[in-house]
Amino acid sequence: MNYNLNELSAQQGKTSTGKALGKLLRLITEERRNLYLALCAILTNSGLNLLGPFLIGYTIDKFISHGDYHSVLMYAGLLLLMYVVVFFAGYAQTTIMGGIGQRMLFKLRNSIFSKLQELPVGFFNQNKAGDLISRVNNDTDKINVFFSQSLMQFIGTIATMTGSGIFLLVINIKLGLAALVPGLLIFVFTRLTSGWVKKKNAVSLKSTGGLSAEIQESLQNFKVIIAFNRRDYFRKRFDQSNQQNYKAAVGAGLANNIFLPVYGLFASLAQLTVLLYGIHLISTGEFSVGLLIAYLSYATNFYNPLRQLAALWANFQAAMAGWDRISVILGLESNLVTLVAKPKVVKNTALLSFNNVHFGYVEDKEILHNISFDFERGKTYALVGPTGGGKTTTASLIARLYDPVKGEVLLEGKDIRTYSPEERTGKIGFILQEPFLFTGTVRENILYSNEQYKGYTNEQLEQVIKDANLQTILAIFDKGLDTPIASSGDTISLGQKQLIAFMRAVLRNPDLLILDEATANIDTITEQILEEILNRLPETTTRVIIAHRLNTIQNADEIYFVNAGEVVRAGSLDHAMNMLMHGKRAS
Ligand SMILES: Nc1ncnc2c1ncn2[C@@H]1O[C@H](COP(=O)(O)OP(=O)(O)O)[C@@H](O)[C@H]1O
Ligand SMILES: [Mg+2]
Repeated sequence: MNYNLNELSAQQGKTSTGKALGKLLRLITEERRNLYLALCAILTNSGLNLLGPFLIGYTIDKFISHGDYHSVLMYAGLLLLMYVVVFFAGYAQTTIMGGIGQRMLFKLRNSIFSKLQELPVGFFNQNKAGDLISRVNNDTDKINVFFSQSLMQFIGTIATMTGSGIFLLVINIKLGLAALVPGLLIFVFTRLTSGWVKKKNAVSLKSTGGLSAEIQESLQNFKVIIAFNRRDYFRKRFDQSNQQNYKAAVGAGLANNIFLPVYGLFASLAQLTVLLYGIHLISTGEFSVGLLIAYLSYATNFYNPLRQLAALWANFQAAMAGWDRISVILGLESNLVTLVAKPKVVKNTALLSFNNVHFGYVEDKEILHNISFDFERGKTYALVGPTGGGKTTTASLIARLYDPVKGEVLLEGKDIRTYSPEERTGKIGFILQEPFLFTGTVRENILYSNEQYKGYTNEQLEQVIKDANLQTILAIFDKGLDTPIASSGDTISLGQKQLIAFMRAVLRNPDLLILDEATANIDTITEQILEEILNRLPETTTRVIIAHRLNTIQNADEIYFVNAGEVVRAGSLDHAMNMLMHGKRAS
């Protein structure tokens, strides 16, 4: 299944801006009350702003020309009151929308992150962590900016413009039409260019994602970089990404800034038209000075917000581009769903079986070919074979990190896909080839996703560890359960990490325990300790051990040879060794 986000968004093509916006607005239905409040504030604001010029024009024509200064003062007081209300309405609108924006940001980040938690391992194989981080951090912020700063201003400017437009037409239809023609041109220009602007913004966001992926990769691998003295290589690669990002950002900036001067030009043209035509109308006696002043004010009210609108439109396009990148993630469905349709049918008595399993990480490249085997309860199985033969892949299918492309994996005779994740992970413990520990303490790491011992004190937990025969392992850590662990800082060795992963898996008391080269980095003495612990696990525990060392293999009940995507029973240890030596099946 294809999980590559960049390819997916290309396939999806351009979602129409309207549709994307609709989906986005549906997300904030919970904010409806706040949105209405903000809308009221903004409409009050625009309405009062619109009334201003009319009152001024009225005062000039009615009172100033008649010398009625008392009324002039009264109207000035009225205006002042209006401006105060405008101030508070503006303040309310900004705070409300700022809140909505922040809450949206919070929710969006949460939902993307939960989505990421649901997605299968295949998704993470196909996408770079850095790009995902950029989507969670950067792209969501574009939407926050849109909501907290742009949306209401957008509505406000549209309301002011519509109102002014109406005043312009009502006061004098001919003059009004002349004043509005440049506005129409602006509208056409915006429609024509906005697709292009959005595309430029999308390219810019994508390259920001790429840059962040580059940073992540080199930070993660800094040791290799230093060991091979390849700093220049990564510097060059970073430089390239940075260049690309720079160019894309400049491109987006150019696109976003094109509106401002164009809008400005048309606005000035409109003012000029109104002025010339208005003076002509006054000379013919069709118009008064007061009206012309009011009129110019309305023309300004109509065109000034356009400049603002230009910036808002750019923000809007950036938000839509960000939203596209976010919605591909939100729209993904995990293919690792729990099957519920069929009742669970017990097909055989083995603890775990593969029935004609085919598997590949990507389409058209099969890694495992038609694998069938049964693992019985309480037995120990060894998987041996050359590197790249498919051992880890087989183990990953046992733990359902992936689903087979064809065939089925049965756990206790039932399709493994019918188990809920909780049931499944309770039954199967997996010690990965590359153990991962979280920043915290040994205690936190061995209790990871183990609710059973959560409330235990250190003493109680130590007793549990002792009962599981794990105390010799714990003794290796100088501060015991409280030994600090840093996930990246390398405070402990790889072998020690494997030991912690081992305790983590064993304490969950699984029915089936998989060890993927879990002893590869452990000295022989500790390995013997591990082996004893494995031997003392409950009788019914099935062990699947992937290993290279002879002594680990020889105690197994059965040995399977895994090579070139085939899993075959090797029978005796000698036979298995023979196969290993010759790299294939010895007849
Ligand atoms: N995440 C992955 N994506 C694509 N191919 C993979 C992935 N992991 C392993 N492979 C391929 O699958 C094959 C088997 O790998 P693996 O099961 O890790 O071998 P082993 O554990 O026996 O060394 C190899 O050819 C490897 O290139
Ligand atoms: Mg492996």
